[in-house]
Amino acid sequence: MRLVFVGPPGAGKGTQAKLICERWKIPQISTGDMLRAAKASGQLPEELVKQMAAGGLVPDEVVIDLISKRTQDADAKEGFLLDGFPRTVPQADALDRVLESRGQKLTVVLALEVPKENLIERAVLRRTDKRTGQIYHLKYKPPPPDAEAHLEHRPDDHEEVVRNRVEVYEKMTADLLPHYEKSGRLKRIDGVGTVEEVTARVIAALEAVR
Ligand code: AP5
Repeated sequence: MRLVFVGPPGAGKGTQAKLICERWKIPQISTGDMLRAAKASGQLPEELVKQMAAGGLVPDEVVIDLISKRTQDADAKEGFLLDGFPRTVPQADALDRVLESRGQKLTVVLALEVPKENLIERAVLRRTDKRTGQIYHLKYKPPPPDAEAHLEHRPDDHEEVVRNRVEVYEKMTADLLPHYEKSGRLKRIDGVGTVEEVTARVIAALEAVR
């Protein structure tokens, strides 16, 4: 399966991606995680660090290059789940070209839909365990006491930045869903409810296209 998860900041893409990837034994490929890893190892240019911290998007060519290379790795041969890519129509077109050149195509694009008021709370109270990448939420999925010393609050998860990220998503990604809808590749998933309820909806949507 070659899957794409689209959705606004805090929609639950990363949370659901981990569960789906475990179930179908495919790698989760998150451009956000790859960019944060590049930043942590000092390989992300300062200008891009600033753009991310302010909640803006990095240039299309940067993420297209990352995805083009990563999807060629051995573990992605039988499938993958792209989390947070593509975010723009030029990124979607580039992805189609890359896959086409390998005789591959996307199975389905899943759009996780969550109202704005839930997004802010989900992102602002998110904490991630630096050691394992496990995602917690201070209200809905509290971290265990032994994880507390290792929790990270992402610099772009402060309320003002989250609001900007949601605005950027609405502006930059507005054309993406109709683009995939037109080609019959989009499935919309209601992202409100418990993690387990949303997972059940995602699995049902995937079983229908497999
Ligand atoms: P990225 O890391 O992709 O961030 P994002 O898309 O803004 O998404 P988030 O990681 O904030 O949220 P999520 O949907 O994964 O939610 P999660 O599961 O963690 O991108 C970061 C930055 O990188 C971008 O701003 C941009 O600068 C750059 N970038 C990345 N890709 C790019 C691209 N393609 N082009 C250009 N630039 C790019 O859940 C959030 C919280 O909610 C958690 O605490 C979780 O526990 C909780 N939660 C999840 N589900 C539920 C539920 N059902 N009920 C209650 N709580 C829940």
